[in-house]
Amino acid sequence: MKLLSSVLVLAILFILTMTSASPSPTVIIIGAGVSGILAAKTLHDSGIQDILILEANSKIGGRIHSVQFRGHTVELGANWVIGGGPRSNHLYEIASKLNLKTYLSDYGNISANIYKQEGGLYPKHVVSAALEVAETRDQFCTSFSTRLSAPGHDRDDVSILVSQRLFKEVPTTPLDMVIDYFYNDYEDAEPPRVTSLKNTLPRYEFLDFGDQTYFLADSRGFESILVYIAKQFLSHKHEVIRDQRLKLNKVVREINYSKSGVQVKTEDGSVYQAKYVIVSVSVGVLQSDLIVFKPHLPQWKTQAIYEFDMAVYTKIFLRFPYKFWPSGPETEFFLYAHEKRGYYPIWQHLETEMPGSNILFVTVTDEEAKRIEQQPDIKIQEEIMDVLKKMFGNDIPEPEEILIPRWWSNRFFKGSFSNWPIGYSQRRHMQLKVRKAQNINNDLGLISLFFV
Ligand SMILES: *[C@@H]1O[C@H](CO)[C@@H](O)[C@H](O)[C@H]1NC(C)=O
Ligand SMILES: *[C@@H]1O[C@H](CO)[C@@H](O)[C@H](O)[C@H]1NC(C)=O
Repeated sequence: MKLLSSVLVLAILFILTMTSASPSPTVIIIGAGVSGILAAKTLHDSGIQDILILEANSKIGGRIHSVQFRGHTVELGANWVIGGGPRSNHLYEIASKLNLKTYLSDYGNISANIYKQEGGLYPKHVVSAALEVAETRDQFCTSFSTRLSAPGHDRDDVSILVSQRLFKEVPTTPLDMVIDYFYNDYEDAEPPRVTSLKNTLPRYEFLDFGDQTYFLADSRGFESILVYIAKQFLSHKHEVIRDQRLKLNKVVREINYSKSGVQVKTEDGSVYQAKYVIVSVSVGVLQSDLIVFKPHLPQWKTQAIYEFDMAVYTKIFLRFPYKFWPSGPETEFFLYAHEKRGYYPIWQHLETEMPGSNILFVTVTDEEAKRIEQQPDIKIQEEIMDVLKKMFGNDIPEPEEILIPRWWSNRFFKGSFSNWPIGYSQRRHMQLKVRKAQNINNDLGLISLFFV
């Protein structure tokens, strides 16, 4: 139930410099993902229309990325929308308005669908007991987190793992580990050891927007949500944005800022001038050397950037000549338990969404995702086939096609998800967003507009 659109946009927005009458535009926005497009729309709606959006890729969307896979539209990035809670989720509303096909993800039968390392399903009652422990542990961690943050008791943060230790039940068997992975890594893209308890639990995205997670599977793609937003303020022809203020394939390499304005240089040698710049690229890109700031960003800002975590969450799609896995109601999700935590752990078939497509996908994260994506496709396919043979026997066909996103190696992303690490304070998080260390209160109003 990962890559929830509302969490995905934990983007890094900040504004540099001021004054002077430079030729158009007033603001340059770097990046046309959710945060960049919404920043642009916010400016546009408040009367600042001489903007310029520079996007490195050949289309808008960023980590919302729909692709064709053997005649079906699949999502390499954001895939679920959440709704039904007390607060309305803007993206969920748009998905409903556009009549995008969504499917409620039902994890209720997972106790009958966890495979052992060497094959065969765990007995249902064994899994049910383990799930109950995990649920109780999760509740303990959540209420412990609430106690740590209680008003007047602003106590130090701990990792989720530390609170699990306090609960006295730390997962160590393959079964307990894959269940723990399902509870945590599947949400955060990083293990409990590094994830901040105080800033992760309770999971407000579910409390606010609803605990129903809807898997979006529509031929128009998740991207159509962002195109819908972009069309509200950028010129377009049908579903294609054609506006002088959006430039694609523009790789920003340098931002030169001073009191008199900003100068933005791209890889193809173009130079753009503006009064302000908003940088909406991923924190992973900010941590890399893709964009050089002149002069260097101050220490407090770079520290705020370097200390946050860019995580990797990868879905690998496989298409087979026929299906050899259980299908029918409540079989969509199945888990593979392995002594190496996070080894091809979470599987999903698409028989409900795309009947007859014979597509499976597996989710991997963090170090495993990084290890896997550095290998050639054929090597990854071999590893996956070994796992599938353990689960379904040796008599299964080779895939006709495999699709492996490489979010971490991609210099325009450097990961697919950001995660709040232990030790990263609210103060640091504020520093990530603002222009000047002393301006926290002044800038807050402006910046918070950009967050969905
Ligand atoms: C930065 O831009 C200013 C003009 O706005 C220019 O004078 C200066 O040389 C530039 N600095 C660098 C390092 O490119
Ligand atoms: C639950 O999963 C098992 C194993 O895949 C399957 O046989 C069963 O039909 C599923 N549904 C229900 C309601 O048990």
